[in-house]
Amino acid sequence: MYILLLLVSFLSALQYCVAATASEWRGRSIYQIMTDRFARSDGSSTAPCDPNDRVYCGGTWIGIINQLPYIQRMGFTAIWISPVSEQLSGNTYEGYAYHGYWTKDLYALNSNFGTEQDLKDLVDAVHNLGMYIMVDIVMNHFANKGEHIDYSVLRPFNEQRFYHPLCNIDWGNQSSIEHCWMGNGYVALPDCNTEDPYVVETLIQYTIYLVSTFKIDGLRLDAARNIRKSFWADFSKRVGVYCQGEVWSGEPDIICPYQGYMDGLHNYPVKESATRALTTSNGNMGELSYIPGKMQERCKDVTLFGTFMENHDNPRMASLTTDMSRLKNTAVMSILPDGIPIVFYGQEQALTGANDPANRQALWPTRYSDNELVSTFTLLNQLRNFLGESYTTVLGRWSLVSNSVVSMHKGPVMVVLTNSGKGVSTDADIVGLDAYSDLVDVMTCQEVRCDGTGKVKITLNGDPMVLCPKSILSGSGICGM
Ligand SMILES: *[C@@H]1O[C@H](CO)[C@@H](O)[C@H](O)[C@H]1NC(C)=O
Repeated sequence: MYILLLLVSFLSALQYCVAATASEWRGRSIYQIMTDRFARSDGSSTAPCDPNDRVYCGGTWIGIINQLPYIQRMGFTAIWISPVSEQLSGNTYEGYAYHGYWTKDLYALNSNFGTEQDLKDLVDAVHNLGMYIMVDIVMNHFANKGEHIDYSVLRPFNEQRFYHPLCNIDWGNQSSIEHCWMGNGYVALPDCNTEDPYVVETLIQYTIYLVSTFKIDGLRLDAARNIRKSFWADFSKRVGVYCQGEVWSGEPDIICPYQGYMDGLHNYPVKESATRALTTSNGNMGELSYIPGKMQERCKDVTLFGTFMENHDNPRMASLTTDMSRLKNTAVMSILPDGIPIVFYGQEQALTGANDPANRQALWPTRYSDNELVSTFTLLNQLRNFLGESYTTVLGRWSLVSNSVVSMHKGPVMVVLTNSGKGVSTDADIVGLDAYSDLVDVMTCQEVRCDGTGKVKITLNGDPMVLCPKSILSGSGICGM
């Protein structure tokens, strides 16, 4: 008995060491992978994949293992992978379940992505590189083809009584969002009855099993807004790892309250305002300078949010603008604002897909090659990783500099963004720096000097500027320092 107790406390101590907390995630930078589309086991760069076909294209966990060096070279310190559970099989009017959001059996793995050993090998490979792994989980619903739902094939909830009665979501009504069903007549998404204590306990036990069996460091909570907030409070406490939820809303007042129940959320308000502001020369820079501050004011801790510009549900940046300078501004916007950066696979290769499913192209035709955006992401991660907590724990202060220029002063760094486009010359006065300090634009290694009032006059050429005091860069390797 005593030995057993020792063993149990040893195992829980071990689990504690492995699981990563919110504050450990704060300093990380995440590369988001859609497993089916990132890399194949055979290393092919020619295997066909038309995202509009909505079929499995052959990406696997082994494929990810083989391309981890590509991810790490860009300075990312964590990956987020697609849901891992077994999916509804075969074709539907909306294609195959290659994305992983149509669960059939929670406990079984999606064999298209590999075996149990492959997933364990992936986690080990990630950990051996000092990186974290986040897994996307779907607690809100299961999936079934057609109108006549065969509950008996769903695991572990194989009877109708485990689900809410069928109704269609009215997105203007939070109770309806929580109790009704997503999906449509072609692929039904039976909505788990997450008020039922048995269902709740089963979902928590499953997630504890997932995290401990596969040594998962963090979770991405799909459709978090579709389950009552109080469910997530108990859930995130008991699963014991950092949880970042999806509440798809541009409204700080809708998103922020959820942080009382989980560690962080995707920062949709900042993403949406930045997309509108930075992808066209008449974008609203005033809104971009205002929304981040509103998020700071309304949310508990925006430094634990996920900062992103692309994901599997939204048009790629390169579908909205082909201007390389604007794309670089959106790259800076993905990495340097408050929060944990999340870069959707292929953003660094300027993939051009617009809405789902076009935004889910295979990455292998790019051959994971170097280019200007890859260098930009590498540099930005290098800077953020080097500065560490002196950067990630302080809040950015945003200002509208002119109709086409905003600045963000965060810790020692002054970021200047513009939507003017490549080659357009724009003068700007940036204020609030230390008097007479020597600064380096880490994007170009060009040096500038502040005047006695802490002001610097700069001329942008469409590219973003990331101004750092020269004194803090020594030892960073940036600009040869
Ligand atoms: C909101 O949705 C709930 C659950 O479907 C429903 O009972 C209620 O009547 C709806 N309220 C309004 C104002 O439509």
